[in-house]
Amino acid sequence: MSPAVLLLTIERVKEEALGVRSYTLGDASGGELPFFTAGAHIDCHLDNGLVRSYSLCNNPDDRLQYAIAVARDDKGRGGSIFIHDNWRVGSQVAVSLPRNNFPLAANAAATVLVAGGIGITPMLSMIRTLEGKKAPWTLAYASRSRTHAAFRDELSTYGDRVRFHYDDEMRGVLDMAEVVARTDQDAHLYCCGPAPMLAAFELQCRERAPSTVHVEYFANEQSSAGRQFQVYLRRSDLTLDVGAEQTILQAVLAAGVDAPFSCMEGTCGECVTRIVAGVADHRDRVLTRRKRAENKVMMICCSRSMTDVLTLDL
Ligand code: FES
Repeated sequence: MSPAVLLLTIERVKEEALGVRSYTLGDASGGELPFFTAGAHIDCHLDNGLVRSYSLCNNPDDRLQYAIAVARDDKGRGGSIFIHDNWRVGSQVAVSLPRNNFPLAANAAATVLVAGGIGITPMLSMIRTLEGKKAPWTLAYASRSRTHAAFRDELSTYGDRVRFHYDDEMRGVLDMAEVVARTDQDAHLYCCGPAPMLAAFELQCRERAPSTVHVEYFANEQSSAGRQFQVYLRRSDLTLDVGAEQTILQAVLAAGVDAPFSCMEGTCGECVTRIVAGVADHRDRVLTRRKRAENKVMMICCSRSMTDVLTLDL
């Protein structure tokens, strides 16, 4: 577990849609919480040993609370079920400091937000920030049905800047080609939602400047397995074999070398490590295409090596 863990108290639980609950967390003594920016997430360390990342959805200016929303996924890996079944008002929960892999660009000419399902959560925080700056924005929000659309009442107050799409009523998924095509080239686009939506978004945005296209993944479906290679840990002066089914992080920890980590699946960014030599085979869902091409840092919980030896700053 990362050393920077906050113990917070659940102050409020609210049903936001069918299967979606929001949880408001605060310091039991009423103290201010560490600062965050729109698009940030916290890792929740659950009592059953799982670590799950959730986007903060409240206004970053509210320094007394962190709010997250959790969609119960009965076919998922167990984190959302545990939270729905166990988190109550008054419960204590351990969370990481906020971290932002999905920040808003400063001074964008316009911002177009595209959300699917529980992917609405980082967008709420972004909308609150953009409203505070009186910056132009729109949101396309797709959900399976009206009853699955979380925060619908609040979002409805923004009038025609929010376009709801209900798959059942509209007999199909959101037309991503149309959403992207009607966005000016100098606008920044952000998408958070299920994997097929993100794939459609990235496909439709392929001709746009990469610096204006931003995505946030719920989970990493890429395998972290591959061929065997070696890592040389420069500061520790250690050479380690990384087996085909092993991650660099596992090899590093097994050798007794300390390294930060949290999600262990390439979505939180905690295990970011500087590359000294060699070429990484990136498998994470944190680094942008540009950052990957720079080959300066990597997520050692899931990414591997293209070269026989990879030298890391550990
Ligand atoms: S531990 Fe979360 S990205 Fe590696």
